[in-house]
Amino acid sequence: MNPDASTIAAGAPIEVDLSPVAEGQDIKVFWRGKPIYISHRTKKQIDEARAVNVASLPDPQSDEARVKSGHEQWLVVIGICTHLGCIPIAHEGNYDGFFCPCHGSQYDSSGRIRQGPAPANLPVPPYQFVSDTKIQIG
Ligand code: FES
Repeated sequence: MNPDASTIAAGAPIEVDLSPVAEGQDIKVFWRGKPIYISHRTKKQIDEARAVNVASLPDPQSDEARVKSGHEQWLVVIGICTHLGCIPIAHEGNYDGFFCPCHGSQYDSSGRIRQGPAPANLPVPPYQFVSDTKIQIG
């Protein structure tokens, strides 16, 4: 039996099938009323995220720490700008990541803040892979 809509809204875990998400594509789902971006990153996006000097970042965090080992192509982040809470646009901006049009924050392909007023990276929600093509968030 699947949880009903009100149970999901209250915080039940959700499962997301990743198999329809092509490389280079992003999808948005909702968990606990929050937008969650799931990006199927290209090799270029992964390489760019990993080439960065972590110490130079406003909120230093390695790409490796933000994705699941063995599933580096998948980035899962809460899509709420850490500045004042707008919803950034995926696959936009100077770093092939996320761009927040409200005040110009730029996040990279790891969801890390690179430029603009946002003080912190887009948070990674609790999630796990339940199979190679399915994740459970929450
Ligand atoms: S809310 Fe995103 S930059 Fe201000």
